Order: sequence, then C-alpha cells, then structure tokens
Amino acid sequence: MPSPHFMNIAHRGASSYAPENTFASFDKALELGTAHIEFDLHFSADGHIVVIHDDTVDRTTDGSGAVADLTLAQLRSLDAGAWFSTEYAGAAIPTLAGLLERYKGRFHFHIEIKGKTPGLSQRTADLVRGFGVKDSVTITSFDPGSLEELAPYAPELPRGWLVRELNDSTVARAQEMGLTLLCPHADAVTPEVVQDLHGKGFTVRAWGIAGQELMRRVVDAGADGATVNFPDKLDAYLKGL
Ligand code: G3P
Ligand code: CA
Repeated sequence: MPSPHFMNIAHRGASSYAPENTFASFDKALELGTAHIEFDLHFSADGHIVVIHDDTVDRTTDGSGAVADLTLAQLRSLDAGAWFSTEYAGAAIPTLAGLLERYKGRFHFHIEIKGKTPGLSQRTADLVRGFGVKDSVTITSFDPGSLEELAPYAPELPRGWLVRELNDSTVARAQEMGLTLLCPHADAVTPEVVQDLHGKGFTVRAWGIAGQELMRRVVDAGADGATVNFPDKLDAYLKGL
C-alpha cells in the first residue's frame, strides 16, 4: 500500500502537458489537483531569481545564451512556450517572486537551487520569508554547497539532497549535513533501500521518473514522494485506479 501521505510533485509543473517551469505548467498542476510543484532556480545577470531548468535559454525559449549573462528584462522578453506548442506561445520565464505571489497558499513548493552561484540559496530564503511561505517550502539541490550555505542562514527551511548515486558515502554525507530528506534517482529506489533510509531517519523522495512503470515501482517500494511530469497518472495510481 502506498503511503496515504505520498508526495505527488509536479516536476517543473505538469510538464508533460504544458511548457516546463512556466505559469502554464503550474496552472495545469493546479487544474489536475496537485498539491506539490517542483521548479528550478538561477540568477539573472542583474541578480534576479528566475525559474528555468537549464544553464542556458536555448532549449526552452526562442533565445540563446547563458541565463547568468542575460538581464531580467532580456529573459522576460523571451518566449518560453512556443518550443512546446504554439498553443503556449508567449509564455514567459517566471521570476521566483512572481511564482510565490501567484501560487502562495495553493501549493507546497519544492524549490531546486540549480544555479551554482554563491548566494542563490540565501536570496531564495529571503524571498520565501518575505512571502511568508516558509511552511510550504522544501529546498533541494544536487549541489551540497548550496545546501550547506543555506543551513546556518535559514535553519527553518527543510533541505533535501538530490543524489545521482546513492551509496554509503552519499548517505554518510547527508547525515553529516544534518539532512532528513534524501532524493535518490528512481532507478535506485527499492523496498530494501527505502527501508534502510527510513531506518536512518530519512524521508525518501525520488526523481528521474520517465515513465509509468518506474513510477509504480517507486510507489510500491514505499518511497515517500516523487517528482513526475504527469501528476494525474501518479494520482490515479495512488488512488488504485
Ligand atoms: O526532482 C528533482 C529533479 O527535478 C532533478 O532533476 O534535471 O529535472 O532538475 P532535474
Ligand atoms: Ca529540478
């Protein structure tokens, strides 16, 4: 039986159905009744925090270049929807502030610190505090430095480490960092692994689910949550449909 509290997290929004990391994909997650969204953050050249996955704008907009080399005005002028479908032409790259303003009280926010620029996790915490959403936020990163930078600055914010390889050394490092949330790739999530991590006091949140078979395996393994591009399908599985 899956946990009744399994976190069904819309990955970059409901990104199977609308362009990732845009209001369209987060609105779609809302429409599907999803309680959790995940998204990725970078700094713009002029120090604003923007919601985009890649280091460059090339894949998901009509522009080109590194996010960190473009100003907020330049980033906001790009079309972040047409690459996905003409239906979404004109969608913009959101700012973190705009996202928190729009969806405050409507989601739990799983915020991934993607850019490695020092200060990004702390400036994110400033905005989270400013919008009064600290109880609806989990901060994650593949970069342990970003999580370590955040810990003394915003100890009230839950942190989770996204690990590409789950092994004794990454588990020990997570314990050293004082983490209680570990996010392994879904391929590594088995009932034995989940039991072991639960025994060590971790919540287990999987990432990297490309299809429904892996989604079902993660749920059946007893994990506590997962990011998926199709939260409606995960919801149906959790409800036994
Ligand atoms: O759920 C975490 C997941 O988003 C990590 O992978 O590449 O989508 O940021 P990525
Ligand atoms: Ca992510």
